[in-house]
Amino acid sequence: MEVDRRTMFGAAALPFAAGALAGAAKASDWGTIAHEYDVTREIIQLEHGNWGMMPRPVLQAYKAMAERVNRDTSYYARRSMVQDLDQVRAKVAEAMGVAFEEITLTRNATEAMKALILQYNRLKPGDAVLYADLDYGSMQACMDSLVASRGVRVVKIALPEPATRQNLIEAYAAAFGANPDLRMVLLTHASHRTGLILPIAEIAAMARQRGIDTLVDAAHSVGQLDFRLPDLRADFIGMNLHKWIGAPLGVGALYIRKDRIGAIDPDPAEDSGRTDIVARVHTGTPDYAAQLTVPTALEFLETIGATQREVRLKSLRDRWVRPLRDVPQVQILTPDEPESYGAITSFRLRGRTSHDENVELARILLEHHRIFAVHRDGLASGSCVRITPALATHENEVDRLVEAIRELAS
Ligand SMILES: Cc1ncc(COP(=O)(O)O)c(C=O)c1O
Repeated sequence: MEVDRRTMFGAAALPFAAGALAGAAKASDWGTIAHEYDVTREIIQLEHGNWGMMPRPVLQAYKAMAERVNRDTSYYARRSMVQDLDQVRAKVAEAMGVAFEEITLTRNATEAMKALILQYNRLKPGDAVLYADLDYGSMQACMDSLVASRGVRVVKIALPEPATRQNLIEAYAAAFGANPDLRMVLLTHASHRTGLILPIAEIAAMARQRGIDTLVDAAHSVGQLDFRLPDLRADFIGMNLHKWIGAPLGVGALYIRKDRIGAIDPDPAEDSGRTDIVARVHTGTPDYAAQLTVPTALEFLETIGATQREVRLKSLRDRWVRPLRDVPQVQILTPDEPESYGAITSFRLRGRTSHDENVELARILLEHHRIFAVHRDGLASGSCVRITPALATHENEVDRLVEAIRELAS
């Protein structure tokens, strides 16, 4: 049985003409796009950071794919699904600006980053590795585990606050200079704690000059920011496709630059005899319907355009940050330098740095103002509340946040 490509890649499912969205800049167009998402109206949802909502055409494609996979099971899997999955991989490679053999699908960013950190084979006892306070907790834990497994030393730094591109570069330069035994560094492109965007290309270039390899966690940046993987100038990148790409839950990807494949061991569970990037992650059976829906998600986003998306997300963020930036009781943790932020920004009430105070802040936002956001811990400076709008967000929802924070601050 042949797959209907129009359904598989979703183009026919999009309810609007591509031309109607290409170049969309007017508020009314963004309203049209926001209406493609079935957001709960119980609350104002400003916590789109956990995973991304599928717009309606993607959800429809996913349902159709789940029905197909469920109906045809192995009859599909053992005959043509492998070729279809290769087409998914090819589409992801094209969207990310890399070669087919440089990318493989994973179930999430964690699976990709675990493969990179734990199977990176260039460390020897006495070497050092580095991570920062803003890096993701499970990646920090994987880096810590290298002490026992590889006999390395772990260097931990706190990123400067307030951060600027320049002081971030300087912080890494200082850490590299102070630790000549460094061989590998973990960098998070877009922080899940504050939304801060690291100047990855510059830091990776400095690292390379010193013989340090850079492993990039792009879980939050892919689809949120307008870039392609080679722009980061890093050899190893892990990401998911279920946050800002808006694919179904349970899909991610791993990138290894072609000439660096030897630095990452194959997954020990791999018994296929393969030596390519696919052998670096051994998942077992994933959600095939989710994977097969990825091209539809990518096409939905492409119809809007990466630059337009980033501009829109930043404008929603600016819409609440600008009126509050100079309110003395409000501390906004994410800088306004255009290259240093995207959709996400975190704040706290000045001086209220504890976990409990920020859990309470999120509770009041929800219970008194019907605004849903989440507290974040783990910054060297203390806890905060994260605000994450998305393409599903309306401007008046962000305006309600400004009113709520003003009231809390007074
Ligand atoms: C920076 C960062 N890295 C990694 C992850 C893990 O992503 P996943 O749930 O796709 O494994 C997240 C999830 O929130 C994240 O924010």
